[in-house]
Amino acid sequence: MLEIKNLDKRFGAIHVTKDVSLRLKAGERRVILGPNGAGKTTLFNQLVGEITPDKGKVILDSQDITPLDVPARARAGLSRSYQKNTLFDGLTCRENLALAAACKTGAVRSVFRDALRDKAVREIVEETAVLVHMTPYLDQRVSEISYGIRRQLEVGVALATQPLVVLMDEPTSGIGPEMSHAFHTMINDLPRDLTLLIIEHDMDLAFDVADSITVLNYGEVVFDGAPDEARGSSLLRDIYLGSWEDA
Ligand SMILES: Nc1ncnc2c1ncn2[C@@H]1O[C@H](COP(=O)(O)OP(=O)(O)OP(=O)(O)O)[C@@H](O)[C@H]1O
Ligand SMILES: [Mg+2]
Repeated sequence: MLEIKNLDKRFGAIHVTKDVSLRLKAGERRVILGPNGAGKTTLFNQLVGEITPDKGKVILDSQDITPLDVPARARAGLSRSYQKNTLFDGLTCRENLALAAACKTGAVRSVFRDALRDKAVREIVEETAVLVHMTPYLDQRVSEISYGIRRQLEVGVALATQPLVVLMDEPTSGIGPEMSHAFHTMINDLPRDLTLLIIEHDMDLAFDVADSITVLNYGEVVFDGAPDEARGSSLLRDIYLGSWEDA
């Protein structure tokens, strides 16, 4: 479903992505682990087209999307939630989801209010709200909801574009252990045909949701395998300097 072939990127002296290759099957849930500065977000930026790699290709559902810009990659089925909040604070949760859904249906043609009246958009909003456990919050403004609920909405916005592959950059960052648990459940309950690539610092979440695990260190894939293998890997234990045991 998603194939990353030999992606390579340097920022001046920093070799931030070193010949990274990954292959995700349809419906696979893969977690990317790696220490701060390992190049995880920069890899995502290259997948969605925000940064142009020096070398390499991105193939989505057998289509080479490397030459496409960000909106064209989104239309091709690649969607992303960000490490930092990127919601419209002054709008309601419903309006945020409707905007994302309208980008897919084309209902955002004239004025934004039209999108909310569009039947297809309304249906996507309602369905997405159920998936990310947001139905009770739909008519609240983003500025009124808690940080944890915002993170759920971020995932909802990514899902509302009806993608083939969803990239999530640290979806649980900054939320407490209780909310993290609810997040695990939410991600586990997403439709199985969605392909997920999730950057995560939280080991529990990684092991809970992952079919497979990739570890990046200094821009390089140093592990690619099953969660059980990852647990037993001394190389990974060294990279995380004990945080593995603490998790
Ligand atoms: N636009 C840029 N120009 C120069 N250097 C950059 C740029 N973006 C990222 N870097 C550098 O690339 C390296 C990887 O950064 P990146 O944000 O991808 O790491 P990360 O694995 O996502 O880290 P974290 O876990 O802290 O989010 C870092 O050394 C960072 O300073
Ligand atoms: Mg990052």
